[in-house]
Amino acid sequence: MQVVPTNKPLGAEIRGIKISSDLSEQELAGIRQALDDHSVVFFRDQELDEATHVAFSKRLGSLRVPRLNSKALVPGWPDLTVLSNIIENGEPIGLLEAGQYWHSDNCFKQVPNSYALLYAQEIPQQHGKMLGGTMFASALHAYETLDGEMRQRIAGRKSRNNFQNPFRRKALSADAAKIYWEEKQEPDSVHPIVRTHPRTGRKGLYVNETYTVGVDAMEQAQSREIIDFLCNHITRPEAIYTHEWHVGDFLIWDDCASQHNAIADYQLPLRRKLRRTTVQGTTPF
Ligand code: SIN
Repeated sequence: MQVVPTNKPLGAEIRGIKISSDLSEQELAGIRQALDDHSVVFFRDQELDEATHVAFSKRLGSLRVPRLNSKALVPGWPDLTVLSNIIENGEPIGLLEAGQYWHSDNCFKQVPNSYALLYAQEIPQQHGKMLGGTMFASALHAYETLDGEMRQRIAGRKSRNNFQNPFRRKALSADAAKIYWEEKQEPDSVHPIVRTHPRTGRKGLYVNETYTVGVDAMEQAQSREIIDFLCNHITRPEAIYTHEWHVGDFLIWDDCASQHNAIADYQLPLRRKLRRTTVQGTTPF
């Protein structure tokens, strides 16, 4: 097994592994280590059926069963969500516009996700160029490169997060919003702005421009100034790794150490389809 880092603050390709449900403990430990070191890892040219996808994901923790409109799930597989722009018989076959904004999964819950595992089945392509990439930004690098004054301003502070954040920078279309339903009911989650990674102990910035409503117990103008500053700092262009998908890619991201944003630079008849499992995380501290 060979781990080849990108030239960005996060991301690495793992070569020499065929993902299967019966990888050895040693191989799994190698993958976990690469994930701890690089926050996003990917494997090219994989052939992953649904059962293998689910079985491998369970080795990273308990799966979070998505409480989505069942039309967004792989039929017969309650743990597998389809991310797609494809419409069949007038109905979307998966989540439309999934993640097309900077966020960390389920940060609007008290117990957010730890990992997502995506398998690429159809990827849009035009004039020889792959479209529909996913951008990743490192929460750890963002904290480590934050100036001392801002570190002091946010030390010990918490953020409030909500799926229905009125300040989110990009709204879902009405068609896409229909597929998300559970999140609409939830009260704010409150999390430390500087979050400690439960496995590595590294500190990262845990706010994002989509779901973070503001700094808890702080007057609004000052709160917005801080959240906007931090979000722009986390996602500054030089800190981003953009994953160019190819059919057969299998990619895992760590939601505590990174945030992501799926690029909407394609439309039907160009088709994009990935399937996803998500792993339950732990209470942020
Ligand atoms: C997501 O799960 O946020 C979507 C990611 C993607 O489709 O690239």
